Amino acid sequence: MIIALNNKSHLDKEEFEKYNEELETINTRHTLILCPSTINIPLATHKNYYLGAQNISKFKEGAHTGEVTATQAYTYDCKYTIIGHSERREEQHESNEDTNEKIKRSLDANLTPILCIGETKEEREENRYKEVLSKELTIATRDLTETDKEKVIIAYEPIWSIGTGIIPNNNQIDEVFSFIKEFLPNNKILYGGSANEENIDELNNCKYIDGYLLGGLSLKLENLQVFIDKIKD
Ligand code: 13P
Repeated sequence: MIIALNNKSHLDKEEFEKYNEELETINTRHTLILCPSTINIPLATHKNYYLGAQNISKFKEGAHTGEVTATQAYTYDCKYTIIGHSERREEQHESNEDTNEKIKRSLDANLTPILCIGETKEEREENRYKEVLSKELTIATRDLTETDKEKVIIAYEPIWSIGTGIIPNNNQIDEVFSFIKEFLPNNKILYGGSANEENIDELNNCKYIDGYLLGGLSLKLENLQVFIDKIKD
């Protein structure tokens, strides 16, 4: 299983140093990936975890103030990068075409992309979620070779579930994961959105989950250890 931690824009320098020390004591047989806030990347010791970026630039390099490129992230020991998180799609107006560019940049720089997809509450209620997810998947993986396509890790994060404490039921998760597998039968698929040490017992009964992308829980390491210990694989 893959356990990816998304710190988002939390933890200042001092807080991150303490956090990193505590994270080193986490005990797991799973693949642990930490995606800290970009500025904390050089402080991350990554002894018992892999390092990932939360985002990379769609540009290879050049005059793009404030951007961090895939190659730069790689040279700071990142092995993974999140692409197209819903918060970036919403707040930074990232398009599916942007996610496609970013996936290409990351693969060129030897970073494994973790592509986030997911529908809003409205899209779910109007039964348009499959349409949204298929568009996100199709455009993001456009022009990739079959080998490159298979390298992309998919994270299904329903937007209505992120930070809300509400998670889809197992039938809803199984349905979406089967749907993703119709497009990408050999890719790893993570679930993200309010996953925690209390609902993991239920999530354990889902058919296809290859791991989790955790936001809030990434900041509560005691609870994270409980979550990890309860994962059934
Ligand atoms: P929460 O686990 O806080 O709901 O966040 C999920 C997420 O957005 C991870 O990328």
